[in-house]
Amino acid sequence: MAELDKAPGGVAAPGDWTYASAPESTDIVRIAERYGHFVGGEWLEASETYETISPRDEAPLAAIGQATRAEVESAVAAARNAYADGWSALPGSERAKYLFRIARILQERAREFAVLESLNGGKPIKESRDVDLPLAAAHFFYYAGWADKLEYAFPNRKPRPVGVAGQIIPWNFPLLMLAWKVAPALACGNTVVLKPAETTPLTALLFCDVLRQAELPPGVVNIVTGDGRTGAALVESDGVDKIAFTGSTEVGKAIQRQLAGTGKKLTLELGGKAANIVFDDCALDQAVEGIVNGIYFNQGHVCCAGSRLLVQESIYEPLVEKLKRRLTTLRVGDPLDKNTDVGAINSAMQLEKIKELVAAGEEEGAEIYQPPCVLPEKGYWFAPTVFTNVAQSYRIAQEEIFGPVLSVLTFRTPDEAVEKANNTPYGLSAGVWTEKGSRILWMAQRLRAGVVWANTFNRFDPSSPFGGYKESGFGREGGRHGLEPYLRFDE
Ligand code: NAI
Ligand code: MG
Repeated sequence: MAELDKAPGGVAAPGDWTYASAPESTDIVRIAERYGHFVGGEWLEASETYETISPRDEAPLAAIGQATRAEVESAVAAARNAYADGWSALPGSERAKYLFRIARILQERAREFAVLESLNGGKPIKESRDVDLPLAAAHFFYYAGWADKLEYAFPNRKPRPVGVAGQIIPWNFPLLMLAWKVAPALACGNTVVLKPAETTPLTALLFCDVLRQAELPPGVVNIVTGDGRTGAALVESDGVDKIAFTGSTEVGKAIQRQLAGTGKKLTLELGGKAANIVFDDCALDQAVEGIVNGIYFNQGHVCCAGSRLLVQESIYEPLVEKLKRRLTTLRVGDPLDKNTDVGAINSAMQLEKIKELVAAGEEEGAEIYQPPCVLPEKGYWFAPTVFTNVAQSYRIAQEEIFGPVLSVLTFRTPDEAVEKANNTPYGLSAGVWTEKGSRILWMAQRLRAGVVWANTFNRFDPSSPFGGYKESGFGREGGRHGLEPYLRFDE
């Protein structure tokens, strides 16, 4: 370790990292008391509703529609009409204009969307402001650019739209997942029925106002809210030509079984248990930052989170020491505070799942570390957690926790690192930390993961395809690859 790191008394970081609170005002958002479903460009009164809350204090925010089968069918019918009635035949350059408009309006209203996203989902405002919103807008800009160039993306293959796309998204990146799905679908000339996750419907509902501002023709995008029953009705609807799903592996498998033999196109983006692999020649302090960003970003509610840390044995001790010290500086608390690093857990259900797996880790014999931090009394919270002494067979090394919980394992040789990293039913992402470019390439060729980050983690760009191997799903979102699921070809 460098001399500088060794402060007298053993701890280099200042003991007190208390910041004055810097809350973002919620004045900018206006939440209605009750929402219906957005069908054919109009609000359809919901026959049943449930309450959406804020996970930071469990305060009720609004009554949300629980769409019935009939309501889903009316949204699908509206999408079919819009598809036949002009949208699918519109020149790509015209479709692009709407996408560019949506992108610009999202940028203009970014603050409003960011506050609402943090309020309804619990993620820190600095993440919704600096990651979710800029990326959501960037996806619309990016796919706007492809709308009139599909012939060049797929030369001599006569790309045509698929029809009506049913899209089901999760609660960890509500608006961003909407953008990942809606932007390529529209760029390719499809119409859409989208269902946001039941705990985080509000930014998708606000997005309907963006569609109104952009003067998108009625019925091109329809939004129905509700839980898994609404999602299942959308999957089963005969009027849907393609399903795009992001969520749990369990539901993804059920959807795949259901659609087998129907001819409907399907893409699945499911769970992960990514290995973040740190070699002894890496820049250690940067690696620590990457590990923290890899697992504590968005409370670990990230399908590609670096939840399994694989450390080369020779640097295990200094690395774990630095990591623990860094954890003491993470600020856990109000998602709307601009200083917050780790916000609220999305729901009571998810908090229960995290607690259950953490208890299993302790029971199986792993050693737990949590920095001292005071968690708010109301709301759903979990302290950033590191497990050492983890065996590969433990549940915390096998199962997706989807929370701020890191499991640390070790390896000696690159071969062993690859073997351990690939020893999972998932294959969504991985990280490699080393100063050697040749080693990065060697590893990337062997890791069975859709994305391999080198000396960084959790970086996203609309031009880069994203998706998994094995139980992490199939199909790619983003990039030119992301167009393909929304097209059919005359071949
Ligand atoms: P989930 O898979 O149940 O929910 C995701 C979406 O699917 C939501 O919109 C939900 O309403 C919908 N859905 C649920 N059942 C459905 C069905 N039968 N047919 C159609 N749509 C359905 O995920 P859940 O229960 O919220 O979380 C459970 C676990 O799944 C998490 O702890 C995490 O491990 C994983 N997960 C992974 C995500 C990812 O980004 N890959 C996102 C969310 C959860
Ligand atoms: Mg579920």
